[in-house]
Amino acid sequence: MKKAYLTTPIYYSSGKPHLGHAYTTILADVVAKYKKAIGYDIFFTTGMDEHGQKIFDVAKKLKKNVKEMLDDNAKIFQNLWKKLGINYNFFTRTTSQDHKKTVQKIFSQLYKKKYIYKGVWTSYYCPNCEENYTETQAIKKKGKLFCKLGHELVFKNEPSFFLKTSQFQKWIEKYFHDHNSFIYPSFRAKELINNFLNEGLKDLSISRKTLCWGVPIKEDNNHVIYVWFDALLNYLTNLGYGTKKNQNFTKYWNDGRSEIIHFMSKEISRFHCIYWPIMLKMLNLRLPNKIIIHGWIINNNEKMSKSKGNVIDPWQYINRFGSDALRYFLVKESNFENDFNFTDKFFWDVYNHDLANNYGNVLTRIAGMIKKYCHNVVPSLTKKKLDNDDKEILIVRKEILKKYKNLINNYKIKELLDEIQKSYLLLNKYIDETKPWVLFKDGKLDKLFNFLNIIFNFNCDLIILLSPILQQTTKKISQILNLVLDFKLLNKDHAKLKINSCPPIFNRK
Ligand code: MSP
Repeated sequence: MKKAYLTTPIYYSSGKPHLGHAYTTILADVVAKYKKAIGYDIFFTTGMDEHGQKIFDVAKKLKKNVKEMLDDNAKIFQNLWKKLGINYNFFTRTTSQDHKKTVQKIFSQLYKKKYIYKGVWTSYYCPNCEENYTETQAIKKKGKLFCKLGHELVFKNEPSFFLKTSQFQKWIEKYFHDHNSFIYPSFRAKELINNFLNEGLKDLSISRKTLCWGVPIKEDNNHVIYVWFDALLNYLTNLGYGTKKNQNFTKYWNDGRSEIIHFMSKEISRFHCIYWPIMLKMLNLRLPNKIIIHGWIINNNEKMSKSKGNVIDPWQYINRFGSDALRYFLVKESNFENDFNFTDKFFWDVYNHDLANNYGNVLTRIAGMIKKYCHNVVPSLTKKKLDNDDKEILIVRKEILKKYKNLINNYKIKELLDEIQKSYLLLNKYIDETKPWVLFKDGKLDKLFNFLNIIFNFNCDLIILLSPILQQTTKKISQILNLVLDFKLLNKDHAKLKINSCPPIFNRK
C-alpha cells in the first residue's frame, strides 16, 4: 500500500486562527483525503507552535498565564478544524513533554557531533517573525531597518549557540539543483538562492539568552532553544522520533517508500527549504519529497496577518455559507504562483455560480426527473439507441475518469475542480438541449431513459470526485441517492438504484 506523511505548519499560538491558517490546513487536508481516496495510507498532522518571544509578550500584554493562553488557543484552533472537517492524525503542541525532551536530545546529539557551537550572536532580528536579517536582506526606511513583512528589526548582540549551517551551503545548492521537484513551484527555489544563498549562508543562531519561554538547553541553562529549531522538529516528534514509541517514524519517515510532503505559504520557505533539510542531513535522516508553497491571501493588497489587524475570520463564512463552501472556495482559488485578493463578493460569486447554480441545480434537476418519469428508480440504458449527444457525454465522462488520478498525484486539485466545473456546465446544457420534458410528452421513452441513465451516472462520479472537498454535503447527497462515496465505485452503472426525493442542496444567497 502506498503511504504518505502530510503536514501543515504549526501555527503560532499568539491569537485566533484566520483565513490564512484555514487556507493551508484545508489544502493539506484535501490532498490527504484525495490521496486516501486513491488508496494511500495517510498520516496527517497540524498543531501549535507554542514557544518564543512573541507568544510570551502577547500573554504578558493580555495579563494571562502563558500556559492558560496556550491551552485556550489550542482549543480554539481545534474547534475550527473540527468544524471544517479537518481529519488530522496528530495535533502537535510544542510545549508537550514528549516534544521538548526529543528536542533537547537532538540538540545534545548535534552538540556532541560539533554541528552546534557557542559564539556571539550579532544580527538584526525580527521579534515578530522570529527571523534573522543581515543588513542587505533588511528593508531600509528612514534610517530604520524592517523585515519583509514590515516589522521593525532590533539589533542583537549576545552569546548564543550556533548551528553550522554555513558548512552545508554547497550541499543544499546542489540538492536544489539535482532535485527540481523538491520545491513546488520550482521558481521558489530560485528565489531562495537569490535571497539567501547567493550572499553566503551564515551559521544560524539557535538559542536565546534573554528569553525564558522556550525549551531549556541542558548544556547551558541560561539559554533556551530558538523557536524555529524547536518548531521544525515537530515534523519528527509527531511521529515519535527519538522515543520508544517510534513506529510511526519508522513507517512514515524512515521508510523511503513513504512520501513526505510539507505545506505552507512562501514566507516560511527559507526555514523549510534551507535550514530544515540541513538539520535532517546533520541527523542522517532522509529529506521530505516535496515542499509545497502557496501564495498569500491578501486583504486590500496587504498580507493578512494578526500584527496588521486585517485578518478575516473563517467563522464569518462558515456561519453564513457552511464549512463545505469555505473548503471549496479556498481550494478553487488556491494559487501557488501568486497571492490572491480575498473579497466578499468573490466568495458570493463562487458560491452562487459553482455550488448553487451548477452542482446543486444539476442534482435537483436530475433527481426531480427520475422521480417524475421513473418513480425514483434510475432507468437502465438501451445501448442500441444511443444518439451522438449521449455518446459525447459518455466520452467526457471517460476523459475525466482517465485524468483524475494523475491530477491528484501531481497536486493539481484546482485543475480537477476546473474539470468538474466544466462537466457540470455540460450537464446543464445536456438537459436544456435534450428537453426531457418534451421526450416524455412525445412518448420517446427509450431516449428519455438513456438520457437519465447517462446523466445520473455521470453526476454520481462527479459527486464522488467532489467528496474529499464537499464532505458534509456529499455525505447528505449520498444518503438521498443511496450512493456509496467510494472512488472504487467510479464509472459504475447505477441502473435500478432507488433514490429519495432531493431537496435543494445549496440555496442561492
Ligand atoms: N510557527 C511558524 C511555523 C512553524 S512550522 C515548523 C509560523 N506560524 S504562523 O502562525 O505565522 O503561520 C504561518 C503559516 O500560516 C503560513 O506559512 C501559511 O501556511 C499560513 N498563513 C498565515 N497567513 C497567511 C496568509 N495571509 N495567506 C496564506 N497563508 C497564510 O509561521
